[in-house]
Amino acid sequence: MTLFLHSAALDRKRIEATIERAREFRDGKRADLSDKIIGLLFFENSSRTRVSFEMAGMRLGARIVFLGPEGSSIKKGETELDTAKVLSCNGVDAMVVRTSVNDGPAQIAASIDVPVINAGSGVTDHPSQGLLDAMTLLDHFNDDIDGKTIAIVGDIAHSRVVRANAHILTKLGAHVRFVGADAMLPDASEDFPRNVTRHADLKDGLDGADAVMALRIQRERFDNRPDLIAACEALSINHDTIALAKPGAVVLHPMPMNRDVEISGALADDLAYSLLWKQMENGLFIRMAMFEAVMS
Ligand code: CP
Repeated sequence: MTLFLHSAALDRKRIEATIERAREFRDGKRADLSDKIIGLLFFENSSRTRVSFEMAGMRLGARIVFLGPEGSSIKKGETELDTAKVLSCNGVDAMVVRTSVNDGPAQIAASIDVPVINAGSGVTDHPSQGLLDAMTLLDHFNDDIDGKTIAIVGDIAHSRVVRANAHILTKLGAHVRFVGADAMLPDASEDFPRNVTRHADLKDGLDGADAVMALRIQRERFDNRPDLIAACEALSINHDTIALAKPGAVVLHPMPMNRDVEISGALADDLAYSLLWKQMENGLFIRMAMFEAVMS
């Protein structure tokens, strides 16, 4: 089952059904996956994605087995695929994979018989993040982001969150803007949905935006790029720059954030603007809905 491997493969109906079910879980609905064992396979560090997948499984009554670089044979040079087979050969019912390899979860899914959920793959995708961001925006905009403009600012070139959001938010009718200097943007040859536009200038990119998403500089994905770091730091989102967007515009960030680098800590904590903490809360319920969808 490849339901949540690629954001581009999620259609509007599936996105809306997942968010609807996540809301039911948020409202206290229960489901029973107590006969299931879920494998979490994290080749990269994570705080919120790992915790919320783990908590989502626990809330559904499932048992969880975690494998990461520390304390496993990954450190002895075992490949990601062979490591995944340790879990599948022991009979897990579903597997959640985070990796720096762009098509790592898809490669694993092609080689084992249980559903694989992509929990972040290289620079290419992060479907659960895209879904929880969409849920948070729909909550805020009374269930309708058709025609809304979401400006994403920062290290877009190296962001899997951007690629997930570009597919999921545009399927819901939103217009997504990539805002940044050339060094910060993906190669012009990369394909994105039609409703994605590029803006070099912060003023132009934020003008009329209903929501602004700031991104962390993904230092772990490139070497020695002072040009890129300087370009990202020059476009920090704070109380002054958010004023370039539409009055009442809200701010998001997939986190972890570097306070006072790509976003000011004061803005992130200002609930008149910030949806950051709601994004984190919604992650749990989206991941419960994802587990139920792949294992029911
Ligand atoms: N947003 C996100 O993926 O955060 P973590 O790296 O902490 O999981």
